[in-house]
Amino acid sequence: MDRYKLYINGEWIDTNDQLDVLNKYTQETFAQVARASEKEVDAAIEAAMHAYKKHAMSPYERFEILKRVSELLKENQEDMAKVIMMEAGKPIKQALTELNRAAQTFELAAEEAKRIHGEGVPVEAAPGSENRMAFTIKVPVGVVGAISPFNFPVNLVAHKIAPAIAAGNAVVLKPASKTPISALKLAGLFEEAGLPKGFLNVVVGSGSTVGNQMMKDERINLYTFTGSAEVGLKLKQNTGLNKLVLELGNNSPVIIDKEADLDAAAENVAAKSYAFAGQVCISVQRLYVHEDVREEFQDKFIQAIEKLNVGDPNDPNTDVGPMISEEEAERAEQWVEEAKEAGAQVIHGGNREAALFHPTILTNVKPEMKVVCEEIFAPVVSIIPFSDLSSCIEEVNESPYGLQGGIFTQNIDTAFYAAKNVEVGGLMVNDSSQYRVDLMPYGGVKDSGWGKEGPKYTIDDMTEERLIVLNLNH
Ligand code: SIN
Repeated sequence: MDRYKLYINGEWIDTNDQLDVLNKYTQETFAQVARASEKEVDAAIEAAMHAYKKHAMSPYERFEILKRVSELLKENQEDMAKVIMMEAGKPIKQALTELNRAAQTFELAAEEAKRIHGEGVPVEAAPGSENRMAFTIKVPVGVVGAISPFNFPVNLVAHKIAPAIAAGNAVVLKPASKTPISALKLAGLFEEAGLPKGFLNVVVGSGSTVGNQMMKDERINLYTFTGSAEVGLKLKQNTGLNKLVLELGNNSPVIIDKEADLDAAAENVAAKSYAFAGQVCISVQRLYVHEDVREEFQDKFIQAIEKLNVGDPNDPNTDVGPMISEEEAERAEQWVEEAKEAGAQVIHGGNREAALFHPTILTNVKPEMKVVCEEIFAPVVSIIPFSDLSSCIEEVNESPYGLQGGIFTQNIDTAFYAAKNVEVGGLMVNDSSQYRVDLMPYGGVKDSGWGKEGPKYTIDDMTEERLIVLNLNH
């Protein structure tokens, strides 16, 4: 069985502890990964601090390394896709899409590395400052502590380390303990691309050990985290005055207006609700459908779902594979059961085989049911009828979350009304909430987090603006 080591200060480090990595479809252990103790986490942070303080890379060097990582990702696509498919249970075609996106993310960050700059500040316009000149420069924040989730084990790691390195920072990464191999393989590509030692360190372990230790370490200057709102809040409460970039939960709303193209909407929403078994922060969860078209849309939606292939993620035709663990699938099933007991109806799916939860549609739901008001992170969609758009949007906005949403309508006034009133970080018109390309600003409002991903935007967070003022009187 393969054994993977930690990557610290440019070296591959084994430990005498390990964690098993399961194939999420067969539930068999296919690899082991060295588990970091306090000692390795400490060494990783020290290495990052040393690299950042003593061996700054020029912007052009950063460009070259990130560009090379992007190329290497393309060259190693098949191997990496297989790893994602096994350790995350992601259908192989979706794993390949993720890798294409990750190559883009590194390329975008490479390009951005060459255009990080400050601006002139006209201090001479202030009375008494006539003989002065000022400008700002952008400097790295220092050591970035990155904690990444299981659902995009390459591209959401890329969204943390690529902008960090583009901006001149050094990184300590803790990947999700259910999917650590993708991140370690990525570290191998950075090594091959010539990243100087210490700029990327990967330590594997649980949130309650490695994560907690990172959270309390004052050598880390900025934390970037994707995961639950609960853990995001804990980070905020425990990281003092440090900077944070938080991508947290969502229970994504999509509105199907009475003037929508129902065929297009049904196909789109079926694909985007259940991809990667609904374990995407912007998967469609609350589907608000205008009463005038509800029956027609519902029929088309079910027909579109019936075309999805459910099963083995290694099959190139599979659209919906297993969830990340049997416990998570059981948790989703439990939420559906609770909803049923309180009056909800399952009109499609609802069945589970081990970690495989079949695409499910609920109706007759109530706002206080967990399947509606909390993030389900499973292939479960609730259809909620509405008759008045403004009341519908008020209901949409009752959620504590606000990452992305969508509206299908052919009416431009309706589209603009939604754009102005839906409280989200991004609203998709004639698309579902689950639209993302890697150059766009991606991030939420309310409990969905702070800061934006997308290399250009994250680099803003991962740099400080330093002001230089020249006194020309001397
Ligand atoms: C996420 O789950 O937040 C990431 C979605 C994506 O990158 O497509």
